Amino acid sequence: MKLTKVAVLVGSIRKESFSKKIALALKEEAPDSLQLDLIDLNKLEMYNQDLDDEGKETEAWKEFRKTIKTYDAVLFVTPEYNRSVPALMKNAIDIGSRPYGKSVWDGKPGAVVSVSPGSMGGFGANHHLRQTLVFLNVPVMQQPEAYIANVFTMFDPNGKLINDKTRGYLKSFMAEYASWVGKLLA
Ligand code: FNR
Repeated sequence: MKLTKVAVLVGSIRKESFSKKIALALKEEAPDSLQLDLIDLNKLEMYNQDLDDEGKETEAWKEFRKTIKTYDAVLFVTPEYNRSVPALMKNAIDIGSRPYGKSVWDGKPGAVVSVSPGSMGGFGANHHLRQTLVFLNVPVMQQPEAYIANVFTMFDPNGKLINDKTRGYLKSFMAEYASWVGKLLA
């Protein structure tokens, strides 16, 4: 069985982030053919094109770009901020997309999971992210979609996912993703 390495980008660095908890549940539920690793976005400075133009990429950008290149696929797990993608996530994507012509995202099969305590499940963030990924030539799994709504009801005080329906859904989502990624990378 070929192991597919999946970089997981989580769009929140909040200590009790629901998105991170969902990302960890996705990792738990992923089939054995996928290796999911959460990538730390915390140290990435805000993107500034001058630094690339002057050959002064920061150590954190360099490490991030190098790391993403070692992965076969990329899974985005994101909250919604003001009906869009949080700056943390967009900044990471922007950093990976440059210098021009050297994007680390190009061709990597992706999937988007949006997460919200609200009832719309981060639909706006999910689709804004998909728009960006079209430009970056990241083929994104179309179906199943994942809008995780009312997430504040789903975890026990230790951060364990206690909603069995959602756990089942995450498991089937990861199985579909594994199968789809397998076809694309074959
Ligand atoms: C939010 N939140 C939010 N939620 C939502 O469903 N749609 C939205 O447009 C917004 N907008 C928004 C803007 C800003 C600046 C903040 C800080 C928050 C609420 C958000 O979903 C909630 O704080 C989540 O808990 C954030 O995700 P994590 O940190 O739990 O992963």
